[in-house]
Amino acid sequence: MNKKGTFICIEGLDGSGKTTQAKLLTQKLRKSHKAVYTAEPSQGKIGTFIRRSYLYGEQRLSSIIEALLFAADRIEHVEAEVLPALNQEKLVISDRYLYSSLAYQGAAGLSLEWIEKINEHALRPDLAILIDVDPKTAIHRLKPNKSVMENMETQQKVRKIYLKFVEKGSLTRINGDQPKNEVSQELYAVVMKFLNASR
Ligand code: TYD
Repeated sequence: MNKKGTFICIEGLDGSGKTTQAKLLTQKLRKSHKAVYTAEPSQGKIGTFIRRSYLYGEQRLSSIIEALLFAADRIEHVEAEVLPALNQEKLVISDRYLYSSLAYQGAAGLSLEWIEKINEHALRPDLAILIDVDPKTAIHRLKPNKSVMENMETQQKVRKIYLKFVEKGSLTRINGDQPKNEVSQELYAVVMKFLNASR
């Protein structure tokens, strides 16, 4: 069955404020567009495994295994949460999606082509947005040791890949280095423009 709703994903560094912004956006569009919030790693079996067993634990798996797990979680997320909501004509707002794998697992040294390949069965979002912040801002906002992927060098590599996709036109950039309300207004404006244009 063809999907009827709209699928938007919000991307950004850890500490970029994307979770706050994705939730605010969902609130604003809840009534008018039946918006629902969702996130990756998902609440499913694989997402739960990712969160519990290594992301915040001490033992890292190889980056290849991590990439495969994130890709598998994505398929579970789409099948269990995203598609059912889209089929009810909802607006699905995902906090992280495909570009997180490209940026983070790419920053870990894997080729973007291979990451694309293992994600080829993942539904493409209708709109993908990057809340872009300077890695210094992001790190400053984080509590110490929130997860294992948050050091400066990694953040810089991750941001560079995100910005590559902005240049290519697949991610729409929003300046996240502004007060929360301004980021929120800019995000809302970008999304409304997209929704009005695709009606
Ligand atoms: P995050 O959004 O920070 O989750 P939470 O707010 O619940 O802590 O995501 C957790 C980490 O997972 C983050 O450092 C980025 C990483 N990640 C990847 O490396 N690849 C992916 O495909 C996804 C979805 C996340």
